[in-house]
This record gives sequence, structure tokens and C-alpha cells, in this order.
Amino acid sequence: MSTNSGNNAFFYLAFRISLVISLVAFIIIFFTLWLHIPKITAFQYAFIATIVILIVSYEVVRYFIQKRITRIETALIQLANKQFEELYEETYIRKDELDDVIIDLNKTVLSTEKELQRLNRLENYRKEFIGDISHELKTPIFAIQGFIETLLDGALHDERVNRSFLEKAMRNVTRLNILTRDLMEISKLETGELRSDLQSVTLKDIISDVVDNLQYKANNESITLKIGNIDPKIEVLADRNQLRQILINLIENGIKYNKPNGQVTVTARIYPKNPTKTLVSVTDTGLGIEPRDIPRVTERFYRIDKSRAREKGGSGLGLSIVKHILEAHGEQLIIDSIINQGSTFSFTLQNAD
Ligand SMILES: Nc1ncnc2c1ncn2[C@@H]1O[C@H](COP(=O)(O)OP(=O)(O)OP(=O)(O)O)[C@@H](O)[C@H]1O
Ligand SMILES: [Mg+2]
Repeated sequence: MSTNSGNNAFFYLAFRISLVISLVAFIIIFFTLWLHIPKITAFQYAFIATIVILIVSYEVVRYFIQKRITRIETALIQLANKQFEELYEETYIRKDELDDVIIDLNKTVLSTEKELQRLNRLENYRKEFIGDISHELKTPIFAIQGFIETLLDGALHDERVNRSFLEKAMRNVTRLNILTRDLMEISKLETGELRSDLQSVTLKDIISDVVDNLQYKANNESITLKIGNIDPKIEVLADRNQLRQILINLIENGIKYNKPNGQVTVTARIYPKNPTKTLVSVTDTGLGIEPRDIPRVTERFYRIDKSRAREKGGSGLGLSIVKHILEAHGEQLIIDSIINQGSTFSFTLQNAD
């Protein structure tokens, strides 16, 4: 068990204790005999000497061992009761095998405490997460249930309502689909399971690709989606798929939380505060965010206007996913917004060269 010393430590301790005991015993017997107490026989000398040696050796053992054994017992009891107060703060100076045991025990206590804290955090996260999920799943499920019940109650034969009810039910099914995908993503991100595979990527290519793919959504909402001036040579270190995910979430938000005929612009330029990085920004001319809501929009399931977000199919996970992905890249999301005028969501990435 001990890693600090081997059998030598045992002999060291045993030798030290027996030497002290023998020495003390020898001195006592020697002086008793030497003083020649006349009325006592040799057997009585030996008897007294034995009693004295027993007492002395008990005290010596107590001095060297018992205090520390008690310490080990206390540590084990505290470990069993999961109490970890100041167990590992003591220092030991004898450097024998008992100290090794105590040091090993302290290490065990420390790692057990850390592991328990980690498990507690995970458990709390799991509980909260399950609560949030069931809450979020209820809305689309109840909506689908309502549409189907109405259809079964007779609306199925009414040409005016059946198609529109089925379309509404379908929209909620799509929402459930996206929600389950995002939930898996966020649980991986929040428990630290998802890793970023950093590669050199040409920023303009990825941005153009994402913007092309989202153009139809922008058109549907009468929003102009465009790319600002971006140097085609800029290469950054990023996980390609995760960078796409960040851009999709930010641009989709720019489209969703915009005003009719609004604009969304994506730009990228060398970061003035640190030229080894590139600043990517998604700017919209939309609703804007109140200063008090800015720190909260990256929280899981946080939506400023719940009914508007739901109507747009939002479950409040997008920005939380963005935040975690950026953290995995060692970066942060920067939000600037003026209510009723628009918002800019920016982040930096390390340049590839
Ligand atoms: N560009 C923006 N302008 C104004 N408000 C925004 C903008 N982006 C996000 N928000 C607000 O922040 C909230 C959280 O955004 P987030 O992207 O996390 O969730 P969502 O868009 O509601 O749903 P999801 O992204 O999961 O589909 C939104 O519901 C909205 O209220
Ligand atoms: Mg979103």
C-alpha cells in the first residue's frame, strides 16, 4: 500500500522503539542492582524491573504509535461518514511507515472527496436536466395531442381544418425532433464529453456555405442575409462542424428575432485588440435585448419572449450550445445589443498561422 517506503521503514520504526525500551529497561535494572537494596532478592529485582519496563514500553509505544493510529481511525470514520474536514492538512515528520499510511490515507480522502463532489455535481445536473426536458417536451406533445383529438372528434371530415391541423401537428413533431437533437448535444457539452477537433479552416468558405444554406429561411421571413467584407485568406483554428453550428445558431437567431424587412450581416476581421485572432460577428437589425437579459440568454432554456420563441420553434438551447462550443475553443461569446435597434453576437478564433 505504501508508496513512500518499503520494508525498511518497518525495521526502522521497530528498531527505534525496541532500542528505546531496552535502553530504558537496562538503565533501570542496572541502577536498581547497583544501589544494592539489601532486603530484596534477585527475583524481586527482575519482577520490579519487568513491571517498570511494561509501563515504560507502553508509554513509549503510545508516544510513537497510538496517537497516529487514533488519527487513522478518525480519518477512516470521517471517510465512512463522508466528512472531510481538514483531514489532509496535517504534516508528519517521523517519516516512518505509519506516516506513509497516513499520507496515503490523506490522498485517498482527498481523491474520494473530489470524486464525490464530481458525482454530486453530475447528479444535480442530471436532476435539473430531466426537470427541464420534461417541461420542454410537454408543450409540443400537448399541442400534437390537442390537434389529433380535435381531428378524431370530427374535424377530420372538415376540409377547412383537417389539413391545417395536420400541418400544425407536423410542425410540432419537427420541433420535437430538433429538441431531442439539441438536448443530446447540450448534455454532452455540459458534462464535458464533447471535444473540439481543431483544424485550420478557411473562414470565408464556411461562412459562405452556411449563409447559402440559410438564405431560404431569410427569404421566407423577408430578411436580407448577407456577408460583409471578409478576407478570403483568413484561416482560423476551429472544429469545422462546431464552427458551422455556432454560425447557424447565431444567423438563425438574427433571422428569427428580427423585424420585417430587417437585415442580418456576417463579418470577419482581424481582432484589433489581439491581431493573432480573428473576430467573427453576426449583426442584425432586429428586436434587440435589454441589458438585464444579456447575461441570461446563454442559459439553458432561457427565452426572453417565450411565446415568440415557441412560435418560431425556439427552445432556448441555441445560445447555450454556442457558449459551450466557444468555451471548448477557449473563447467567449460577446453580445452587444440595443433594444429595438438590433444586436451583434461576436466571438474570436485563433488565427491558423
Ligand atoms: N439576435 C437576437 N435578437 C434578439 N433576441 C435574441 C437574439 N438571439 C437570441 N435572442 C433571445 O435569446 C433567447 C435565447 O436564444 P437561443 O438561441 O438560446 O434560443 P432560441 O432561439 O429560443 O431556441 P433554439 O436556438 O434552441 O432554437 C431567444 O429566445 C431570444 O429571446
Ligand atoms: Mg436560437
